[in-house]
Amino acid sequence: MKKKLLVVHHSQSGSTERLAHAAVAGAREEDAVELRWLRAAEAGAADLAWCDALLLATPENFGFMSGGMKEFLDRTFYAASAQQLNRACALIISAGNDGSGAVRQLHRILQGYPMREVAEPLVVRGEPRPADLERAADTGRALAAGLELGIF
Ligand SMILES: Cc1cc2nc3c(=O)[nH]c(=O)nc-3n(C[C@H](O)[C@H](O)[C@H](O)COP(=O)(O)O)c2cc1C
Repeated sequence: MKKKLLVVHHSQSGSTERLAHAAVAGAREEDAVELRWLRAAEAGAADLAWCDALLLATPENFGFMSGGMKEFLDRTFYAASAQQLNRACALIISAGNDGSGAVRQLHRILQGYPMREVAEPLVVRGEPRPADLERAADTGRALAAGLELGIF
């Protein structure tokens, strides 16, 4: 059976969405992995239960992850705890000039949720450039390859 990768993103002005799209394109290069790409508002506990690994992509807003991404994690926490989910996870942060607050906050939440971070967070500052989109594709590729190889 194919391993499953869930990509959840929140984006207001499109930068995070472009990075998530690049990550999805990278992951799609691994045929053996099934993909589901959802906006945070559309994603739920059933999607978390479905996947073997997930990628969270969020802007940094006011030094935090975006409200939309936080709402997804808040909304799914009890169901994920009840099922004792502990999914492999990677992060992409789109920031104007920082991103560290969103990473710090997500790391705290992932410990308690819990999720297992399996890659360095990718923080992109400013409008994503082609090299940033390629790094996002690498993140997607790495997650999909890890799933295919049975690493997580
Ligand atoms: C309300 C708001 C707050 C923001 N706060 C921060 C911040 O604290 N640190 C930062 O680096 N960028 C900040 N930014 C810039 C966004 O993180 C950046 O523009 C990001 O690429 C937006 O992603 P999006 O296009 O997917 O919405 C903020 C933007 C908005 C709209």
